[in-house]
Amino acid sequence: MSQAGGRVPLIAGNWKMNLDHLQAIGLVQKLSWSLKDVKHDFGAVEVAVFPPFTDLRSVQTLVAADKLALRLGAQDVSPNQTGAFTGDVAASFLKKLEVEHVLVGHSERRHGHGEGSDLIARKARAVHAADMIPMICVGETADDLSEHGAASVPLQQLTEVLADLPAGAEFVVAYEPVWAIGSGEAASPEQAEDVCGKLRARISELRGEADADRTRILYGGSVTSLNVAGFLRQANIDGALVGGASLDATEFSRIVQFKKHVTGA
Ligand code: PGA
Repeated sequence: MSQAGGRVPLIAGNWKMNLDHLQAIGLVQKLSWSLKDVKHDFGAVEVAVFPPFTDLRSVQTLVAADKLALRLGAQDVSPNQTGAFTGDVAASFLKKLEVEHVLVGHSERRHGHGEGSDLIARKARAVHAADMIPMICVGETADDLSEHGAASVPLQQLTEVLADLPAGAEFVVAYEPVWAIGSGEAASPEQAEDVCGKLRARISELRGEADADRTRILYGGSVTSLNVAGFLRQANIDGALVGGASLDATEFSRIVQFKKHVTGA
């Protein structure tokens, strides 16, 4: 089963600043055993992890050695290619580590590091130029929600990033209401679907229907194994970006197996 438009669901674990490289190896081993046990079909539901930079090489080595079907993501990137940018990490370095997706515009970068649309758009461009896929995070704060409703800020944020991304570039969108991140208070599936449907309509306006049909839009914000199925049942939600619950291999593996609990959820 894939979503409309042949989109294969993607479950992505954003570890944030958790787990050193040894703990990362432990988690990935446990996750892969657990998914092997249930004979998880990685072609039917893709699974990606987004470890901290210092863990990427260890996780990549494990994925390659054990031929795991896990995909690798990074949490941030420099907008610049190489050079005198102390502390930054270039997209080309991530590509060499077989990273496929890179988060841009996560609310913890927007709000904790003052990243604005220009910088986020440059980062997305750098990811694309290095032949990886930007995962563009958008979402409204609680204040935005009460002042403008749920969709207006995410639509504006997406429009600003897409303005700078070359035509035909592949990207993923993660709709994450800021008030839902780490709060234990997820959006309702209907509310998330409403915004995700509008985001897809905006992609269609800006890039055409074919791009809108193939682009995966994920929901993020307090996703757990108990609520994931409700989101994935929605026509415009093609996966989940999972923070806290991705740090527990058993729980993340249950989230990956959302199809098993779609009925009756
Ligand atoms: P959460 O985080 O699942 O812990 O709410 C989601 C995210 O920030 O991507």
